[in-house]
Amino acid sequence: MKYAVLILFFLILCLTVCAQDIPDSTKKILGKYTCGSCHSYEMRLIGPSWKELAQKNYSAKTLANLLRNPEPTNWPDYPPMAPIPNITNAEAKILAAWLKELKN
Ligand code: HEC
Repeated sequence: MKYAVLILFFLILCLTVCAQDIPDSTKKILGKYTCGSCHSYEMRLIGPSWKELAQKNYSAKTLANLLRNPEPTNWPDYPPMAPIPNITNAEAKILAAWLKELKN
């Protein structure tokens, strides 16, 4: 009985935390650069949520530039983001496409 409660608890936890439907290709990039420590799906962490970022509708090129040279004035309520100089254009393309989907 105790186990059933535990399993149920983890299922519910997983539904709220894991069920964000992030494609593997995107997850890999977010993990590689630990973007998730500052950005989450819906909630403001250190940086804006992915859903909020999606509203900016950045092209892959703009996104790559902003990741390499963040412009904190775009997000006045937040501390400045540390630059991610080694993000590749291919990675920025995957991220931009993913963010565009979140916008809908
Ligand atoms: C150490 C925390 C931190 C990490 C790690 C981080 N970010 Fe950020 N990010 C922020 C903060 C804070 C802001 C808002 C202030 C700013 O833009 O400088 C931000 C802003 C952004 C923006 C908006 C840029 C703009 O000018 O509109 C995007 C897009 C973004 N982050 C994506 C990412 C991605 C993708 C990664 C991983 C490759 C990442 N961030 C990693 C903290 C972080």
